[in-house]
Amino acid sequence: MKLKVSLLDLILALADVMDMISPVLNGHHRRVAHISYVIGEKMGLPSKNLTDMFIASLLHDCGGITLKERLDALQFDIINPYIHSELGYRLLAKYEPLEASAQIVRYHHANWNETRRISEYNEEDIPLESYIIHLSDRVDVLADKKSEIIGQSTYIKKRIISESGKKFMPDVVEAFVAVSKPISFWLDIINVEKSCEIYESKVNDTVLDEDSVFSAGELIRNIIDFRSRFTATHSSGVSAVAAQLGKCTGLEEEEQKKLRIAGFLHDLGKLAVPTEILEKSGKLAPQEYNIIKSHTYYTYKTLQKIKGFEEINEIASFHHEKLDGSGYPFGIASDNLSYNSRIMAVADVFTALTEDRPYRKGMDRDTCLSTMQRMANEMAIDGDILEVLTKNYDSINNSRIEAQTKSRSQYFEYSKPSTLNDIKLQ
Ligand SMILES: [Fe+2]
Ligand SMILES: [Fe+2]
Ligand SMILES: [Fe+2]
Repeated sequence: MKLKVSLLDLILALADVMDMISPVLNGHHRRVAHISYVIGEKMGLPSKNLTDMFIASLLHDCGGITLKERLDALQFDIINPYIHSELGYRLLAKYEPLEASAQIVRYHHANWNETRRISEYNEEDIPLESYIIHLSDRVDVLADKKSEIIGQSTYIKKRIISESGKKFMPDVVEAFVAVSKPISFWLDIINVEKSCEIYESKVNDTVLDEDSVFSAGELIRNIIDFRSRFTATHSSGVSAVAAQLGKCTGLEEEEQKKLRIAGFLHDLGKLAVPTEILEKSGKLAPQEYNIIKSHTYYTYKTLQKIKGFEEINEIASFHHEKLDGSGYPFGIASDNLSYNSRIMAVADVFTALTEDRPYRKGMDRDTCLSTMQRMANEMAIDGDILEVLTKNYDSINNSRIEAQTKSRSQYFEYSKPSTLNDIKLQ
């Protein structure tokens, strides 16, 4: 069966998992998307622009990599928001269908009265949609979701109006004041799952075929991996190893492609784990280890929302399950672990052991294989697949090195600090 997946489904899933990083952020991306859409519609934006803006809103903070950064952004007067905006732009701009949205994300914190400076620097105009997201984002930050919402509307409107012509574009403030009159506007904010559905049917969605799922997968892979230099090339390695293992075990091309895509997505749930924990040196506290362990649960729950991804989800999400049923998060044993899921588990362990990390070198062949053999003896990973890996060690390891080298140069390009310093405007 050929893969067919909705781009919007993918983006909504991504928006949700990014906000799972903290209960106070839950639903933030969807709420901003909702508010932006209503304002954009009021301002008469054409449907293509509304779609690009809706997508940009759903992903606008994807460059905010640490929990601290995400929480700092909840201050109304956020200090130096330009780095996460620029990183978000760099991530999204690589994926052609999101080029326009990337540009919108780049300026989603641009203050209206400072825009000439940014405009001169980049020699281009700030998209109107960026100004809309800027205001919508600040409305969501001002709204205290734990208290009754209607009673807060007067105060929030006052704060926004007081920044008209300063932080915010006057036309956008005017449209906001108009659309926020009925109390339904405010109730929609706290019922965002439902209100978002309305726009989902209005925006122009794209159905992705196998090849475009692959490129969308690369984008998601970068959003996951580039949060930390420790993981910057991990999913690229896992993806290449899984596909090559599939090839060596004689799987059809179709199955190899599934393995490749599932490899890109297997650690999706790590977006819900603070980098502060992922990067912690030294021993993790039991609660921190539990948070890390939750990542495959969130991979599963997130991919579950995407129609057409049922099989990819099983392959991606069960990579920490063990044949004897002692793995996590579901404790699924060999009877229910598909061959592809077992390949993914082997690919994940192999990549983790052999890849270089900033703090240590990867294992050599003998140490890696004896470590994995012990795991196979303990029924943690599949011994037959390990045998295939042992027989084809060089070709599999070379695919990993090739994929990770490519990703490493992309990561350097992405994290280049020079322009990031230039854009600190305050
Ligand atoms: Fe932001
Ligand atoms: Fe935001
Ligand atoms: Fe994992």
